[in-house]
Amino acid sequence: MKKNIAVIRGDGIGPEIIEQAVSVLDAIALKYGHEFTYTEVDMGGVAIDKYGDPLPDEMLEKCISSDSVLLGAVGGPKWNGVPGDKRPEKGLLKLRAGLKVYSNNRPAKIWKQLASSSPLRPDIVQKGIDFIIVRELIGGIYFGEHKTEKKGSELIATDVLTYSESEIERIGKIGFETARKRGKKLCSVEKSNVLDSSRLWNKVMRSLAASYPDVQLTEMLVDNCAMQIVKDPSQFDVIVTENMFGDILSDEASMITGSIGMIPSSSLGAGTVGLYEPIHGSAPDIAGKDVANPIGTILSAAMMLKFSFDMDKEAADMENAVSSALDDGYRTADIYNGNGGFTLCGCGEMGRQIVKRIGNTNREQEI
Ligand code: IPM
Ligand code: MG
Repeated sequence: MKKNIAVIRGDGIGPEIIEQAVSVLDAIALKYGHEFTYTEVDMGGVAIDKYGDPLPDEMLEKCISSDSVLLGAVGGPKWNGVPGDKRPEKGLLKLRAGLKVYSNNRPAKIWKQLASSSPLRPDIVQKGIDFIIVRELIGGIYFGEHKTEKKGSELIATDVLTYSESEIERIGKIGFETARKRGKKLCSVEKSNVLDSSRLWNKVMRSLAASYPDVQLTEMLVDNCAMQIVKDPSQFDVIVTENMFGDILSDEASMITGSIGMIPSSSLGAGTVGLYEPIHGSAPDIAGKDVANPIGTILSAAMMLKFSFDMDKEAADMENAVSSALDDGYRTADIYNGNGGFTLCGCGEMGRQIVKRIGNTNREQEI
C-alpha cells in the first residue's frame, strides 16, 4: 500500500520523537512491502519563526490532502510573549478544526512492565488500569470567543463555553460505540451542578442511551472523576467528556500508568484524514538532550496504521516491538526507577531497540 503521511515535527522534543516514529514506520514499510512517503509540515513555534503564523493555510492544505497526519508537539517558552491568537497552540487548534477531528481517543492502560512506575499504591494498580478517554476536540471553551477588555481601571478576560446538541450527539455516539466494542461501560463526565452546557450534555447522552441498551451509561461530575481516577481507576472502561475536562483528565490518567511519555492518541472525525499525536507536550526543558521518551509517538503511529490504514497486523507488530523492548529492560529517564536490571537509554536508543525488534523478514530472506 502507498500512503502519504504529513509529518509535523514541531517544537521542543517534537523533532526527536518524530524521528524515531518515522524510523519505526520505515521498518514496517520495508517488512510488509508498503510505501510510506512523508510530507514535512511546519506548525507551531517553528512556523511562527519562519512565517509569522503558527499554521499558514498552505501548511493546513498539505495536511488535508495527505492520507494521515503524525504530530510531535508544539510550543515553548520562546513564544510565550506572542499574542494569544498567534501562539503555537493556535496552530494545533486550527489543524484539529481544519481536519474536523472532533473525537480524540486517549487510552490509559498500564503496561505490566511499568507497574512499579505508577505513583499509585500497588494494591490499586493490581486491580488494573485500562480505560479510554473519548475527548470532544473541536468545540467548547477552546473554540468559544476569547477576549480581554479594559473596564474602568481593570482588565476583564472572557472565554465562552458553548456546545450544541449536534456537537454533543456526535461525540456521544463515539463514546457509546467505543464502549460497545470494549467493556460496555460508558461514564459521561460533566459539571451539571454548575454549567448549562453540562446539563445539555446529560440530556443528549441520556437520549442516546436508548439506542445502546447493551451499554451501561453512568454520569459523573468532573471533580469527582478526578478523584476516582486515583482512588480506583479499575472502575472505568470508557469516559466521554467535553474538550477541556478531557484535556485535564487525560493528563491525570496518563500519569497513573507510569508516564505521560507512553500515551498515544488518535483524533478522528467527519473527514477522512486522522491526526495522531502523543498526549504530552513539547517538554522544552529536555529538548535536544536525547532523553525524551519516543514511545507515545511510536504508539500513535501504530494507531495510525490501525485506524487510518486498516493495517492491524502491522500495528500489532509495532506494539509488540515496544513491549519487547520494555521486557528487555530498556527504559527512558521518565520510566526508569533506578532499580537494577534496567538499562537507562536515550530517545534514539529506545527507537533503535524498537526498530530492531520489528526486524525485516524480506531482508532476512534475501540474505
Ligand atoms: C493536549 C494539549 C493541547 C490541548 C495544547 C497544546 C493546546 O495539552 O493535546 O492535550 O490543550 O489540547
Ligand atoms: Mg493536554
